[in-house]
Amino acid sequence: MTTDPLFDLLGRVAVVTGGLGQLGMVYAEGLVERGMRVAVFDVERGDVPEGARSFHVDVTDRVAIEGALAELEADWGTPHLLVNNAALDSPPDAPAEEVGPFETYPESSFDEVMDVNVKGVVLCCQVVGGAMAREGRGSIVNVSSVYGMLSPVQDLYAFRRERGETFVKPVAYSVSKSALLNLTRYLATYWAQAGVRVNTLTLAGIWNDQPAAFLEAYEARVPMGRMLHAEEALGAVVFLASDASSYVTGSNLVVDGGWSAW
Ligand SMILES: NC(=O)c1ccc[n+]([C@@H]2O[C@H](COP(=O)([O-])OP(=O)(O)OC[C@H]3O[C@@H](n4cnc5c(N)ncnc54)[C@H](O)[C@@H]3O)[C@@H](O)[C@H]2O)c1
Repeated sequence: MTTDPLFDLLGRVAVVTGGLGQLGMVYAEGLVERGMRVAVFDVERGDVPEGARSFHVDVTDRVAIEGALAELEADWGTPHLLVNNAALDSPPDAPAEEVGPFETYPESSFDEVMDVNVKGVVLCCQVVGGAMAREGRGSIVNVSSVYGMLSPVQDLYAFRRERGETFVKPVAYSVSKSALLNLTRYLATYWAQAGVRVNTLTLAGIWNDQPAAFLEAYEARVPMGRMLHAEEALGAVVFLASDASSYVTGSNLVVDGGWSAW
């Protein structure tokens, strides 16, 4: 698609975890459009864009990651890009206490979120990043959130409390996403000489037809006055995947419409 050698991804191989989700699908489609061979690792089953391949992988299961990588490497070779995008905000079966006070936030939810959002990323880095390091090249993008860099703004959820619900934005997501900032720094230095670059991509909230009261509060909080559109996260991934970022490692690329500038 692009002829600019700085951003040329033609023929390279990507692994996108959580590639069936809202953002993962945008990355998978956008990278295929740019000539990459994309492997989607997801715990769910679903359709992937034409040109991508789907692997049923739970990122908390090292054996499953190793199996998918072996299959992928046999056909396409060692990946050039790993996007650690799979994550849980709240576990699907979360109990009501999940959005209650911090003091009674369920330990089981904390474990589940940390397992996927932190251990899952560590395991994918060990297996896929390890293969990249043996090859002497690669780029890893660990997807974090403004809620991992800064505290959630609990006021954004006041409208839910005003209509009688108990709602506190849960703690585990924030803790898990901030862990990625230092995992990135750790691995960026660990693999710097091995040619594997590791960076964090920090995103603000994505527009997803949220309730009007939430949107109003959010838009007032962010300098650009709107939420991020999912397609706007792709440019940062393309940059971090490509030679345009050849000297960028250990960094945190913040795509937040100015959220963290205030
Ligand atoms: N949506 C937002 O507002 C927002 C904001 C900032 C950062 N982010 C980050 O962007 C990333 C993607 O978010 P999204 O909104 O597209 O989420 P999503 O819930 O739409 O997609 C997440 C995907 O991860 C998969 N997944 C969950 N557990 C898994 C596991 N154990 N193994 C493999 N796959 C698993 C799910 O099946 C799903 O396809 C996440 O890391 C999230 O923290 C999202």
